[in-house]
Amino acid sequence: MSKTQRLELTWIGKDKQSKLEPRILIEDPEKSYGDKNSENMLIHGDNLLALKALEQDFAGQIKCACIDPPYNTGNAFEHYDDGLEHSLWLSLLRDRLIVLKNLLSPDGFICCHIDDAEGHYLKVLMDEIFERSNYLTTLYIQVRYPEKTLKQDMDYHKEIEQIHVYRKKYGAKPNLNEKQSSFDKFNFYVEELEPGVETTIGGKKVAILKKGYYRIVQKEGSALGLKEIWATGTILDGNSSGRFFRDYLTGRVEQDGLGVLYKVYGIGDDSFDYRYFTGPQRAGATKGKYYQGVPKFQLDNPDLKQTTPIENFYDLAGSFGNCRTEGSVDFRGGKKPEILIQRILSHFSNPGDWVLDSFLGSGTTAAVAHKMGRRWIGIELGERIVIPTACLV
Ligand SMILES: C[S@@+](CC[C@H](N)C(=O)[O-])C[C@H]1O[C@@H](n2cnc3c(N)ncnc32)[C@H](O)[C@@H]1O
Repeated sequence: MSKTQRLELTWIGKDKQSKLEPRILIEDPEKSYGDKNSENMLIHGDNLLALKALEQDFAGQIKCACIDPPYNTGNAFEHYDDGLEHSLWLSLLRDRLIVLKNLLSPDGFICCHIDDAEGHYLKVLMDEIFERSNYLTTLYIQVRYPEKTLKQDMDYHKEIEQIHVYRKKYGAKPNLNEKQSSFDKFNFYVEELEPGVETTIGGKKVAILKKGYYRIVQKEGSALGLKEIWATGTILDGNSSGRFFRDYLTGRVEQDGLGVLYKVYGIGDDSFDYRYFTGPQRAGATKGKYYQGVPKFQLDNPDLKQTTPIENFYDLAGSFGNCRTEGSVDFRGGKKPEILIQRILSHFSNPGDWVLDSFLGSGTTAAVAHKMGRRWIGIELGERIVIPTACLV
């Protein structure tokens, strides 16, 4: 492969980009309703033209583009057709994704719903447009129960759909899951029954308590409790306790015996000036544990929120099954439950941010964005679905 070659998806017509006449958006006051000061927009028309028209005012402004294009499954739904030829579908998506990228703010995200009819092609296409380094994750959504088959004569049952998530640029930070920090896991307590034998190991003062000289009890977590951590795997390189165990305590079973507790002074970031380690309990075992107190930082900041990663699987089969008339809008074929959009927007946007859905369908993204205090723009081609406030001319 020569140096100039790159991995890319090709298809018939890829080199033909749509040529667009400039369009402007004009409000149709007869169809406008609600808060006159609202900047939110419902646009009726083809989304490529609409997105191009938005570029003038909104380039670099959209925090979250949450789109749900037709999946190209070959079905004809009541409100739209979903059977574009593969290459046409790729060109259609490519042209719109390029403009969507221009509309995203530097700290913005795009989340694109899809299923496995085109999901893998869409991933490669999005890699090309947004760059592979900006791919963040694919969220896998359970949309159907195993026993609820779409059609009896199908060999394969589609239970899972996907959402590919990209950021516009390095540095865009999603909102992680937050929970109030608690002492729940600090629920081990060491009782010293007899004094240990003092020695020095790895340059640190250590008291060695033989089996029977101590007891470890488990009860309710508290600021005085300890968290039990196995000193194995990446922990052995990952922090000072893991490294101490690896470098100085591993292999001491010969001289200290089984079931020993080591009280090591001058290690750790908690309020204790020592940390307990246990050696192997049974002949032939090598692993041990250590017992960490509540970090000083957590003790000093009791209101601290802890973050956990964004999960990439949601079981929403129940919500998908019940969402057909959610929001009093009956829309068959592709309607998403509000709970899914709420999760996406909570991770990838903040109150006041602009959210854009250029395949709006029944309006779920706009409805949820509105409820969550985001500003929003929705674009939809279908006649019966939208009550337009702005039209393309
Ligand atoms: C899968 S549905 C979206 C459903 C939506 N997420 C919901 O919860 O109701 C896709 C929608 O994209 C619309 N659409 C397809 N091509 C379009 C285009 N070129 N411009 C604007 N809308 C388009 C279809 O009419 C359809 O309503």
